[in-house]
Amino acid sequence: MTSTVPPARTATSPSAARTPSAARTATTARTASATAPTARATAESPSPAHAFPPAFRWGAATAAYQVEGAVREGGRTASIWDTFSHTPGRTAGGQTGDLAVDHFHRFREDVRLMARLGLTSYRFSLSWPRVQPTGRGPALESGLDFYRALADELREHGIRPVATLYHWDLPQHLEDAGGWPARDNAERFAEYASLAARALGDRIDTWVTLNEPWCSAFLGYGSGVHAPGRTDPADALRAAHHLNLAHGLAVGALRAALPSAAEIAVSLNLHAVRSLSGHPDDLAAARRIDAVGNRIFTGPLFTGAYPADLLADTAHLVDWEALVRDGDLAEISRPIDLLGLNYYTPTVVSATRDTEGATRHDGHGESRHSPWPGADGVAFHRAPGELTAMGWPIDPTGLTDLLTSLHREHGLPLLVTENGAAFEDVVGPDGSVDDPERIAYLSAHLAAVHHAIEAGADVRGYYLWSLLDNFEWAYGYAKRFGAVHVDYDTLARTPKASAHWYAEVIRRGGID
Ligand code: FCB
Repeated sequence: MTSTVPPARTATSPSAARTPSAARTATTARTASATAPTARATAESPSPAHAFPPAFRWGAATAAYQVEGAVREGGRTASIWDTFSHTPGRTAGGQTGDLAVDHFHRFREDVRLMARLGLTSYRFSLSWPRVQPTGRGPALESGLDFYRALADELREHGIRPVATLYHWDLPQHLEDAGGWPARDNAERFAEYASLAARALGDRIDTWVTLNEPWCSAFLGYGSGVHAPGRTDPADALRAAHHLNLAHGLAVGALRAALPSAAEIAVSLNLHAVRSLSGHPDDLAAARRIDAVGNRIFTGPLFTGAYPADLLADTAHLVDWEALVRDGDLAEISRPIDLLGLNYYTPTVVSATRDTEGATRHDGHGESRHSPWPGADGVAFHRAPGELTAMGWPIDPTGLTDLLTSLHREHGLPLLVTENGAAFEDVVGPDGSVDDPERIAYLSAHLAAVHHAIEAGADVRGYYLWSLLDNFEWAYGYAKRFGAVHVDYDTLARTPKASAHWYAEVIRRGGID
């Protein structure tokens, strides 16, 4: 791989471009340079009780629309998230990613911060409308230049870049042409993947096709709590198939464009589904959610077929025979190198009982429309455990369960491509953020990863969500997932106690 010196970029003032600044929480914090963590190598610090493999990737993740800002720069056009967030009533306080945390201009500072934390890898996403504004035709060099510079900066600091091609920001042009429910969208995605890989494949060796296609399909076109905000169960299922197809076509395009050593992955938010009881009706509910939440992706990806029970559950909604064309399943099941798992909380379900109605504690946002087509008789329950600021119960056993079952069933090397938690962080008088709950969450989940490794799962890395506080989709800026605090008035970055803690975990190569 080559490593060229990227062009210098200038920083913009945070105040003017922010939208809408008044709705954000004002906090004060010291700048990153004043508080940057240092890896304190002390001779006395003992080896960790739970050491991770030497080549384990210690990472953090972000996504383009959540951090970049600069939405009108360099020829970038609107994505469905620009349109959605600018539509009244769609996001908390009408907040948007117009400025986000200005990573587009501050990436060098952010990479320096990552280096001081000792991260060995950074997972970010490419903004499709920055790279290929209309979703068709040639790539925009100015957009590619940003990712070239970011990848080079990372590599110069010894941090391995991992590029996600699609983290939900479909060019609005393509949504106007039908979006994911339209088959052509899959072809468009493969073309974009090819352009990106040809331009960046010399400096990025790990590629994730899609982030959480479940959310794109079922929150975007089913419950409508995510962009583009459509609410048609049949369209949601069509979107799911076309996302699968897009992934498969993109794997082919990436293999053709990338050096043979490059690794290709997909990131799935598989649900750790638990039945409320052993009653057959509750077990049937869990089976339905596992089908439309998980196996709708793992089935075609790893076995080359949609599960028969999923097809039966949803036969009244879509004509699967017409939707899945000859050759599609062979495309979708092209071998990949790594499977990315995003995990936050388990999912507890039962059959709906008259007394409780169809409760929807599924953690995916309020809507009159369900994101679970073909699962009308299923109730979602709050899992036991403390809650994060998202209202998501904390239960790391779901992560061990998913990693071990994925290993058992599919045998692929695994990456935890997202895991983390939002809490009500408080900035202290000295500007520091003490976040013991986040440290406890991360520590317990890293222990869960370690358990899975001990049980034989080949887990190659862990990416904390998120490097920085950022635009949490429909929840806006109120939900802070960052290990690094961002002051939304000044955009100053301040590592929280959890960032210092993570730096120490990385330095020692494990946890106690
Ligand atoms: C995941 C998304 C990520 C972030 C976290 C909290 O579902 O991939 O962008 O919103 O949840």
